[in-house]
Amino acid sequence: MQILDGKKVSQEIKDSLREKIKESNRLQKRVPHLAAILIGNNGASETYVASKIRNCEEVGFKSSLVRFENDVLEPDLVSAIEQLNNDENVDGILVQLPLPKHINEEKIINLINPEKDVDGFHPISTGKLVQGLPTFIPATPFGIMMMLKHYQVETSGKHAVVIGRSNIVGRPISILLNQNTNPGNCTVTVCHSRTQNLAAYCRQADIIVAALGIPGFLKADMVKEGAVVIDVGITRVEDPSKKSGFAIKGDVDFEQVAPKCSYISPVPGGVGLMTIAGLLQNTYQAWLQQVR
Ligand code: GUN
Repeated sequence: MQILDGKKVSQEIKDSLREKIKESNRLQKRVPHLAAILIGNNGASETYVASKIRNCEEVGFKSSLVRFENDVLEPDLVSAIEQLNNDENVDGILVQLPLPKHINEEKIINLINPEKDVDGFHPISTGKLVQGLPTFIPATPFGIMMMLKHYQVETSGKHAVVIGRSNIVGRPISILLNQNTNPGNCTVTVCHSRTQNLAAYCRQADIIVAALGIPGFLKADMVKEGAVVIDVGITRVEDPSKKSGFAIKGDVDFEQVAPKCSYISPVPGGVGLMTIAGLLQNTYQAWLQQVR
């Protein structure tokens, strides 16, 4: 069994980006600039955004954080996005999700200039992804693909079962794994909350991507011997033994499942770190397309 080490792979990607930025600095070019919009004070969102900003600094990117209270009015959010769209020193814009209930998420995402849509959530980015055209791939599926490529995991002709159909992970990773690329060329089954006999699908899978958000959901009896298991779960579970009061749990019962796998990604230390690498890579790409 081989661990898909997100820490190691993401560090390599970050090292490579840092070297490229050093070279740009030498040429006195402006550096990539990511702007993040954060609304309210959801603990997990705060942590994710802080990590995105810290990682920008690590590789030498500029970052800006635009914060709003939970009761922000939609027009204020709209004008903040328009301002960032028009700022030629900003390469990438992300709006941290979820948004408060009174804000129309679809409307807000649609406002982001697709050339700066480093989260890849704009319908134009999604449309290009579906057609196999170059675009910003949402950071988590992008990170998973980079991890599979790094470890040269054989995917061609394999049966991949994706559990979850979200716009952020399940749907895009199902499209990417199905594309005629390497990694890719899988036969993909997308399972979800209404799937009947989900365990039977999982038992047939050569590759399982668990992205449903239920800690420890995938058990050993749902996995065939030699399967590749990618754990996308990052749920906070109460844990008084931790200083923070919680532990991060994946969707896979790692202890049970790992011994049966050819490859498995751990939580923490797997896909989460690759998500950051995906976002940095997208921001770099946006900058390349804007600084000529
Ligand atoms: N919320 C959960 N995952 C993500 C992500 O990848 N990007 C943004 N903007 N919000 C999220």
